[in-house]
Parts: sequence; C-alpha cells; structure tokens
Amino acid sequence: MSAPLYLALLHHPVRNRDGQIVTSSVTNMDIHDIARSARTFGVTRYFVTHPIPGLRALCERVVWHWQEGYGARHNPSRREAMGLVRVEPDLDHVIAQVEQEAGRMPRLVATSARPRGRPTVSFRDLREALDSGDEAILLLLGTGHGLAEEILDRCDQLLEPLQGLDQYNHLSVRSAAAILLDRLRSRDRS
Ligand SMILES: C[S@@+](CC[C@H](N)C(=O)[O-])C[C@H]1O[C@@H](n2cnc3c(N)ncnc32)[C@H](O)[C@@H]1O
Repeated sequence: MSAPLYLALLHHPVRNRDGQIVTSSVTNMDIHDIARSARTFGVTRYFVTHPIPGLRALCERVVWHWQEGYGARHNPSRREAMGLVRVEPDLDHVIAQVEQEAGRMPRLVATSARPRGRPTVSFRDLREALDSGDEAILLLLGTGHGLAEEILDRCDQLLEPLQGLDQYNHLSVRSAAAILLDRLRSRDRS
C-alpha cells in the first residue's frame, strides 16, 4: 500500500515580486481545481492555509457551497473532491493534523520553480518513497511568488522543479499541482 500523501497550499509566509515576505490573497480556483487533482491522484487531505480569519471564513464558505450548498447538487464530482479540503491557519496546524491522522510526523517536501541553492529530491526517489509506504509525506505549494525561505528551512527536502524544454517554468500553482501529482502518483509509469 502506498504512503499517505498530503498537500498544503500556503498563503503565508510567501514572497512578493520584490522578494519581501507577504500574505497573499485567496484564489477560488486554487481551492477546487487542486481539490480535483488531489482526489484524482489519491491525496489523503488537501489543506488550504491562511492566517487571516476572514479569509479562512471565505475558504470555508467556498467549501460549504460545494459540499452542502447549491453546488453539491449541481456538481457531485466536485463535491466529492471538496471533501478533501481542510482550512487551517498555518503550517504548524497542518503538521499537527497530519500527525494526528497519520500517526507520525510527515516528511515535509517543498515545491518551487527554482532549486534555490538547496539539495533536491527527484521525482523518482519521492515516488519510490510513496510506493514503499513507510512514511507520510506532506507536499507544500506556494502562492504569490513562492514559499518563503523560512518555510524551506523547515522542510526536509525540496522537490526538483518541473522543467520543460527551456528555462521558462513558472506555472500557476494549479497547473503545477496537477503535474506534480501526475508524476508522483499516476498509474502510467512510462
Ligand atoms: C509561485 S506560485 C504562483 C502563484 C500564482 N499566483 C499562480 O498563478 O498560481 C506557484 C507555486 O506553484 C508551484 N510551482 C510553480 N511552478 C513550478 C515548477 N516549475 N516546479 C515546481 N513547482 C512549481 C510552487 O509551489 C510555487 O510556489
């Protein structure tokens, strides 16, 4: 049996275009598009974190709409995917939740479009770790201009960046999440 894989989308602390540490706003599509990818690729839970209570309430409202409100009747497959979403204030709360659910501290793996001078884990090695089922893995996704260094410092590893044919690789977080999950969890191993 493969290891439990958790996802977390962080809105703080992230960098802005000038490299300053900021809190980014919430994007509706990030909640349900990533939830669909998470459901498709067997993610155990998808955490959306935001430090501002009003924006957490907004996220909860979006989840409620697709879980219980009109959206649930309108689109049952989205309802199923949204069942994976949990809204938390920050990474500490996410780790505590995962520890409680998985019964162990997860391996923290950050994602970024750039290696940022840090040792990286390859898709192959992370996939093998998932396949071996030995440990829970928590994959962190950034917003704004990416995760702050203080988050990377807390991570056990940085996943190798997705790269196309040339140097440009700045994907939306939704696209990055779908591709990352496909590479880590798809049935097609070619
Ligand atoms: C920097 S944010 C950009 C947020 C932006 N507002 C958007 O369009 O979604 C994108 C996040 O997606 C992931 N990401 C983007 N491009 C990536 C790549 N080439 N390799 C790995 N992860 C990537 C990282 O988690 C990164 O923090």
